[in-house]
Amino acid sequence: MTVENTEAGPLSRDGSLYVTGNYAPVQKEVTAYDLAVDGEIPAELSGRLLRVGPNPVSPVTDPVNHHWFNGEGMLHGVRLRDGKAEWYRNRFVRGTKVLEALGEPPIPGPTRGFDLANNTHVMKIGGSTYALTEAGSLPMLLSYELATERRSNFGGTMGDAFTAHPRLDPVTGETHAITYVPEHEKVQYQVVTTEGLVRRIVDVPLPGRPMVHDTCLTAKYIVIMDMPVTFSMEAMQRGDSVPFIWDPGHGSRVGLLPREGSAEDVVWCELPGTPFVFHTGNAYDADDGTVVMEVVRYESMFRTNSHSPFADDAHLYRWTVNPATRTVTEQLLDDHAQEFPRHDERLVGQDYRYSYTVTSDDVPKGFTGLLKYDVKRGTGESVDYGRGMLTMETVFVPTSDSAAEDDGWLMAYVHDVATERCDVVIRHAQDLANPVATIHLPVRVPFGFHGNWIAD
Ligand SMILES: [Fe+2]
Repeated sequence: MTVENTEAGPLSRDGSLYVTGNYAPVQKEVTAYDLAVDGEIPAELSGRLLRVGPNPVSPVTDPVNHHWFNGEGMLHGVRLRDGKAEWYRNRFVRGTKVLEALGEPPIPGPTRGFDLANNTHVMKIGGSTYALTEAGSLPMLLSYELATERRSNFGGTMGDAFTAHPRLDPVTGETHAITYVPEHEKVQYQVVTTEGLVRRIVDVPLPGRPMVHDTCLTAKYIVIMDMPVTFSMEAMQRGDSVPFIWDPGHGSRVGLLPREGSAEDVVWCELPGTPFVFHTGNAYDADDGTVVMEVVRYESMFRTNSHSPFADDAHLYRWTVNPATRTVTEQLLDDHAQEFPRHDERLVGQDYRYSYTVTSDDVPKGFTGLLKYDVKRGTGESVDYGRGMLTMETVFVPTSDSAAEDDGWLMAYVHDVATERCDVVIRHAQDLANPVATIHLPVRVPFGFHGNWIAD
């Protein structure tokens, strides 16, 4: 399937041109103040809406073989206060390649002699904000204005690597992570305290070197995703920038590791078939001893196009993981093509009702809609951003600490194809049809991965 990209060049599911249209990088670091706003920004929103994505710092010499995951990280942030959008900033994350390209001196902090691109998530851990990626790069500590201050290994306490998708436990304030280094046949479970120090590392043997992108946390368990995309020495030797391959022979399973347990306590539960999941939604322990988790499920990944995650559509599923039978049953929840599931993060690991994803009829071209899915009723409500508007991941922010689930703001960066600029659109989760505020950024924000609202 080939789609005409609306801006420049074909973006296809077979080829890989993740340097065109709104996948194309921006080179300039911009600071803009007092942004134009339609509507009213909720006055209680005081903080920054941050996100990060891949943004090659140097010209891409081989666009057909360029892997979207591999561009250097660029941060985007909008600061809100007193109903105003005070500033927008974008900044490269200062990894080795960025420093070289920009002719800047090294940054402080520990080093491993290399940086992968910290392009995947931006998150507050132990009171500090970091740009994160998986598979071995150190977290990058960020200033309020998105400068890269230093690499961090959590004061020397970090294990072999970190991840872009840890889970913050709203009950304890601790951060739980499943981390991996591609060459190692194991993962590590790491727990980071509210002071930002790793207090617990558990090595769990994991044969076959799978990519382990995300996890789930419940009151009882951390979930290890063992999916059929695996590290390939052959792919690395031939120079693939992301040396992972579709490997259905590896199988698909999830491991339930009791939060205070050891590797011997992991209960592995097999999936039917060989589905692949990058992103999980929320999860919780059901009364019958199973773990109920939500996932965005692909039938395969990198099977026909090793450089694009969007060769197949993904759909919203519920997985019921049964440690007694060591099996997982799957249930399709919503068959829109979708990605980037988010939820009210005050409910991480607990029974919950709503998920928020982005949807599309034509995923490689971009995401056009927002889906709110009610897992209790089994119904979805969606809204389209309108012609030529392409949304990125949606972030949910409660209207107050004591607000009910779903009483909150949904915020997203939205690319406007016609103007080649970006808006930040804010809606109340219970009134999807009527945005309360649209903040106009003076620049384009390329599609990227993830971000968060970081309250002041
Ligand atoms: Fe991700």
